[in-house]
Amino acid sequence: MSGEGSEVLPDAIGDWSWVGVELADCPAVDGAVHVDLGGLPVCLARSSGRVHALLDECSHGRVALSDGQVDGGLVQCWWHGSCFDLTTGVPTGPPATRAVAVYPVRVTAAGIEVAVPADAGGRTHG
Ligand code: FES
Repeated sequence: MSGEGSEVLPDAIGDWSWVGVELADCPAVDGAVHVDLGGLPVCLARSSGRVHALLDECSHGRVALSDGQVDGGLVQCWWHGSCFDLTTGVPTGPPATRAVAVYPVRVTAAGIEVAVPADAGGRTHG
C-alpha cells in the first residue's frame, strides 16, 4: 500500500491517539469523505495516491471541506472557493485566511490510521 500516508510516524506521539480508518471509508480515487474519528470531524482526502487528514471544517465559514473538490494536492471549499493545502492546511487564497488543522496519517497492515488529539475524544487503535 505504498504512498497511502502523508507521514511516517512513531507509535508514541504525546497526547495523541492513532485511530483506525476502514479502507472502505477512504476515497479510492482523488476526492474527500467525511469521517468521525472519536468525535472529531475529519476530512479524509486522497490526492495523487496520498491520503491526508484535515479538520472537516473550513476556517472561513465552518462548512465541511469534505463536500469540496480535491485536485492537485488541494481541497476547495464548496461555498466560497478557498483552496486548502492538504499537507499544511494553509489556504492558498481568500476569503479564508486561517489554516485548518491537519492530522498525521500512517499506513498499517490493517489499513490507515490517523493521529488525533486525545482531548478530541480519540481512542487508541491497535
Ligand atoms: S466557507 Fe469556505 S471559503 Fe467561505
